[in-house]
Amino acid sequence: MSSKKDLSSIISHCKEYGYIFPSSEIYDGLSAVYDYGQYGAELKKNIRDYWWKSMTQMHDNIVGIDAAIFMHPTVWKASGHVDNFSDPMIDNKDSNKRYRVDHLLEAEAEKLREGGNEEGATALLARMDELLAADDWAGLKSLIEEFKIVCAISGTANWTDVRQFNLMFSTEMGSVEGEADTIYLRPETAQGIFVNFLNVQKTGRMKIPFGIAQTGKAFRNEIVARQFVFRMREFEQMEMQFFVRPGTQQDWYAYWKEHRMKWHLSLGISADRYQFHDHAKLAHYADAACDIEYNFPIGFKEVEGIHSRTDFDLKNHQQHSGKKLQYFDNDLDLNGKPFGNYIPYVVETSIGLDRAFLMVVSEAYTEEDLSTPEKKDDRVVMKLPPFLSPIKLAVLPLLKKDGLPEIARELMNECRPHFRCFYEEKDTIGKRYRRMDAIGTPFCVTIDHQTKEDGTVTLRHRDSMTQERIPMSTVRELVSKAIEMPFSQL
Ligand code: GAP
Repeated sequence: MSSKKDLSSIISHCKEYGYIFPSSEIYDGLSAVYDYGQYGAELKKNIRDYWWKSMTQMHDNIVGIDAAIFMHPTVWKASGHVDNFSDPMIDNKDSNKRYRVDHLLEAEAEKLREGGNEEGATALLARMDELLAADDWAGLKSLIEEFKIVCAISGTANWTDVRQFNLMFSTEMGSVEGEADTIYLRPETAQGIFVNFLNVQKTGRMKIPFGIAQTGKAFRNEIVARQFVFRMREFEQMEMQFFVRPGTQQDWYAYWKEHRMKWHLSLGISADRYQFHDHAKLAHYADAACDIEYNFPIGFKEVEGIHSRTDFDLKNHQQHSGKKLQYFDNDLDLNGKPFGNYIPYVVETSIGLDRAFLMVVSEAYTEEDLSTPEKKDDRVVMKLPPFLSPIKLAVLPLLKKDGLPEIARELMNECRPHFRCFYEEKDTIGKRYRRMDAIGTPFCVTIDHQTKEDGTVTLRHRDSMTQERIPMSTVRELVSKAIEMPFSQL
C-alpha cells in the first residue's frame, strides 16, 4: 500500500470525479478561478455546515449573519484596505507601460522552462515568492535586473522602483455612465460583521463576550495565484468576530487558538499534520496573531488565521461613519462600578473554505496498491470523514432484473430524506465499488437474491473494503449514526 500525494494527481482526480473544474473551461479557463462540480459542491457545503454549526449551534453566545458583498465604499477606507491592501508593480520609463512584478517574473520563468531549464524556472519562482512574502520591493527589482528582463514594448530595462498595487476589485454602481460610484467587491467578509455589530447586539440582546459568524465570497486580485484552490481570486471565507471587554482579549485569543485547533483535529486529521505559526511581525492594529498551518502537498501553509484585532475596526468605523459603535457593560468591576461604555476589542477566527476543502481532499486522497502475487490491482480512494462525504450511501442492485432494482428503490426512498444516497445499476459490482471509492462514499449496500429470501444486504466499507451481511432494516440507522458531526470532540 502507498499513499503518495502530489498536487497534480489531486487536481486531476478532482476534475475526473466532478469535484472541481477550471472556470469557463470551454474558453480555456480563467486564471485562479474555479467551479465546484456535483461532488465538490456537496463536500464544500458539508464543511461549511460543520463550521457554521460548530460556531452557532454549539455556542450560546455566537450568532450568524449573511451580509451583502457590496458595501458602502467608505467601509474600505475605514478598514484600511483602500490605502494598505496592495501588491507590488513596476513601470517601464520608456514605454510608460505598467507591469505586475509577478507577471514579469513568471513570464521569465516560462521562457526558462521553454528553453528546457525547468530547475531554473522553479528556483526563480521560489525566490520571487520569498521576496513577495517578505514585502522586499528592492529585492524584487534586483531580481528583474539580474534576469535582464526588458519591457515588451520599448525593449529596454529602464524600470522605476517597485510600487504597490491594490488587491481589491472595483466596479461601478449606478446606471448613468459618468455618475457612477466606484464600489469594491469585498476582500474579506469580516467588515460586514463590524458594520452590523450594533444591529446584532441590540436586536439579539447580546451580552459581551459574544460572537458574530459569517460565511461568504471574498475577492482579491491576487498576484501569486498558482496553486489550485489554495490561492484564488474569488474564494469563500468563514469568519467569526468575537467581541470582548478590553483587557480580556489575550485570554480569549488563547481560548480561540485552542478551540480552533480542536475543530481541525475533529476532522480526523492527526496533530502532526498541523502547526501554529505565531506572527512575530504584527499588523499595527493587532496585539497577537497566528496561523494554523496544515501540511499541504505544497508544504506547511496557512489554512486559518486567528487575530486579536484590538478595537481597530470598530473605532475606525465609528470615526468614519460618525455613528457611535459602543457597548454599555453593566457588569461591575473590582470596585463595584459598572464597566460602562466602551468600544469592544475583537478576536477573529478566519478560515478559507476553499483552503479547508483542499486540506480535507489532500488528506483523504489515497492511492493504494492492492496487487497480489496472482494479480496486479490498485485503486484511488477518498478517505473522507463520513460526515463530510458528498454521498453517504450507494445502493446497488446486483442485477438489473429479478425484482432487485425494486427492492433497492425501496431502500433509497427510506434513506434519501435523511442523507444523500446514490443509486447505480450499471457495470459490474466491483467497478461500481471502485467508482464510489474514488468519490469517497463510505458505504455501499448491495441487494442480491438473498435479500429477497431473508431481507439482508451486503454492506461494504470503503476504507477496509470489508463486507458484512446485515438486515436491510438496519441500514438507515447505521449510516445515520456513522455520519453524525463530531461535536463531542470540540
Ligand atoms: N479577516 C481576516 C482575513 O481576511 P486573511 O489571512 O487575509 O485574513 C483569512 O484571510 C483566510 O482566508 C486565510 O487563512 C485563507 O484560508 C483564506 N484566504 C485568503 N486569501 C485567499 C485566497 N486568495 N484564496 C483562497 N483562500 C484565501
